[in-house]
Amino acid sequence: MIVTTAQLFKHAYGKYAVGAYNINNAEQAMGLFKGCIDSKAPFIIQISKGARKYTDKKMLEAIIRAADEIFPEAIFAVHLDHGDEETCYDCINSGFYSSVMIDASHDPFEENVAITKRVVEAAHAKGLSVEAELGMLGGVEEDIVVEEGNACLTDPAEAEEFVKLTGCDSLACAIGTSHGAFKFKGKQSLHFDVLEKIKSRMEGFPLVMHGSSSVPQDEVARINAAGGTIQDSMGVDVNEYLPAAKLGVTKINIDTDGRLVWTRVHREFFKDNSSAFDFRPPGKIFIEEYAKFIASRNELLGSAGQL
Ligand code: G3H
Ligand code: 13P
Ligand code: NA
Ligand code: ZN
Repeated sequence: MIVTTAQLFKHAYGKYAVGAYNINNAEQAMGLFKGCIDSKAPFIIQISKGARKYTDKKMLEAIIRAADEIFPEAIFAVHLDHGDEETCYDCINSGFYSSVMIDASHDPFEENVAITKRVVEAAHAKGLSVEAELGMLGGVEEDIVVEEGNACLTDPAEAEEFVKLTGCDSLACAIGTSHGAFKFKGKQSLHFDVLEKIKSRMEGFPLVMHGSSSVPQDEVARINAAGGTIQDSMGVDVNEYLPAAKLGVTKINIDTDGRLVWTRVHREFFKDNSSAFDFRPPGKIFIEEYAKFIASRNELLGSAGQL
């Protein structure tokens, strides 16, 4: 059942984080729903601009509506990931989305405020909530590349002012994470000091952590052993998800790790079955492996068992 993002946040705030997982196709949808049912977890389906273009936004909507029928126990919200203003309006008017993200974090503060305010007004008129972003993560976000050195953490005082000025419902903060598979050269920790300061200024307000994939080292090793050449890198420490949730991080975005599961399954399958050409056997393995991965993440986020 599709619920509002606000409902999910209300239940989770300060206790656990809701996993926000990106999907692009039917196999990801099947694995995601199965994993969340198996672990009895509410979840957020994220759709990026790229996902809307990969097949068609209508195809994705149909896949999600079908999954909702196949898995009637599922409790989830549908969210636009990293939207621009135009895409936000399209989703707001579609009648399908629960919430949108307006990402104007690369614009100057005043511009970010102005754009976010317009989207909030349009979204609230139709009952959707809005995630905005302040600060800059490292890595690749849609088509914008931010070098590690240029990433800047969210300023707590600015965050408080931004939320007051825009009326947004949740805020993506930069607290040391980064998008994609190439996050950090060595082990790195979240900036809990910054998170604590943000929380103390806006008690009860849901925060969002993007770029939260862990880039499992064994996954990368298996991909590379099966012909891949993914460079060495470390991701977010999964043992920091729950401590972040206790400090107000109510939504944790994980996309890259799921792509690594897909790549590992398919590389290994076709390496071991080099004359194979039916994509359904590896597709079936992927659905099972992705479901297991999702359930494992929901355990770490504390969302498992919350249904
Ligand atoms: O932060 C971006 C998400 O991982 C979505 O990636 O724009 O390649 O679909 P995408
Ligand atoms: P990862 O690239 O770490 O999975 O982050 C995904 C994300 O933030 C989607 O918005
Ligand atoms: Na951003
Ligand atoms: Zn993101």
